[in-house]
Amino acid sequence: MKTNNKEIKERAHKINWREFSAMEEKDKIVFLNNSQTGNPFHVLFSQQFDRKILDLLCKVADKARLIHKNRDKGRKFLKSLLFGTFALNFFSQPSSRTFLSFETAQEILGMGIRDIRDPNTSSEAKGESMEDSIRTFSSYVDLIVMRHPEAKAVERGVWVLNRSDRRIPIISGGSGPDQHPTQALLDIYTIYKSFDRKVDNKTIIMIGDLLRGRTVRSLSYFMKNYKNMKLIFVSPRHLRMKKDIKDFLKRHKISYQEENNFKKVIPLADVIYMTRIQDEWDKGKNKQKSHESVGQGFKFKAEYLNLMKKKSILMHPLPKRDEIDVELDYCGDPRIIYWRQERNGMWARVALIAMIFQKEQDILRYKIK
Ligand code: CP
Repeated sequence: MKTNNKEIKERAHKINWREFSAMEEKDKIVFLNNSQTGNPFHVLFSQQFDRKILDLLCKVADKARLIHKNRDKGRKFLKSLLFGTFALNFFSQPSSRTFLSFETAQEILGMGIRDIRDPNTSSEAKGESMEDSIRTFSSYVDLIVMRHPEAKAVERGVWVLNRSDRRIPIISGGSGPDQHPTQALLDIYTIYKSFDRKVDNKTIIMIGDLLRGRTVRSLSYFMKNYKNMKLIFVSPRHLRMKKDIKDFLKRHKISYQEENNFKKVIPLADVIYMTRIQDEWDKGKNKQKSHESVGQGFKFKAEYLNLMKKKSILMHPLPKRDEIDVELDYCGDPRIIYWRQERNGMWARVALIAMIFQKEQDILRYKIK
């Protein structure tokens, strides 16, 4: 793989963890993206992705899906792309979709797959530092996908490997309250697919726990790549979107507003993005409080379908609880997109891995017979 390995290593060697960690996200991008292709190498933040990369990723995801429909030659071709390479999925925080979709994406591309889901089964349980564990993992595989309960844990892995002799890519599947960039990728791919491959000019309502939800934060950063986007934030007072995202939107002249009345704004939306209350971050008594305070005003009732535009979609990163009326799960309305959204995650991740390993042109050039 062509990377600016030597140059990055020289620069990375001079930066200790404290300095690296304190850098602004935009200044870290040089340590994350491939300087030759501009594509991501490690994946930590949405800000690593510009319009060109996002458009390419959506095209590659679409094409890989089509190729995969050809069960014989198409699937063999996809499998040949990364045959002989290995991926480790190191998930020490619960996950269904991110874990399974990455694993399946890796298999589609022919990678051998290893996983660690419980750090008690790795030598971390014997006191090995996370830094040493990551270096050890990198000895056996060509890609690490990592989800961790601690903030900056994946970023620390990136810092470690950028300084090591075996600089393999790490993709964040979520790290404490940090971003969930691959969720944002699949969300953008879902919008792209749902609106005839056009993401510009959309009004998106984000509703629920906007304070702690890492998906809405990651998706908000992508807005700067598209024209005429508008965000409407609807949340309980104590779970509002943080100032850093609002400052980012202001800086990039992206229109946003905060609203209390969900029902009132539904007819304005092209995309309604529901989220659950992230009470796993609450402590003690707050757990109950976090739930009780939310109330019906932040849930999607079945009758709200009548308020939605004819051409609009209801998204949810999942898992969900009771924030969407369950009868909508089986109603067959094409605007209920969240089940397709989670499957889109697999294709977005196929495209991302292919781009990291510089296989995207092979996919785009493949002639489907
Ligand atoms: N959306 C998402 O990250 O789901 P999982 O937690 O199941 O991976």
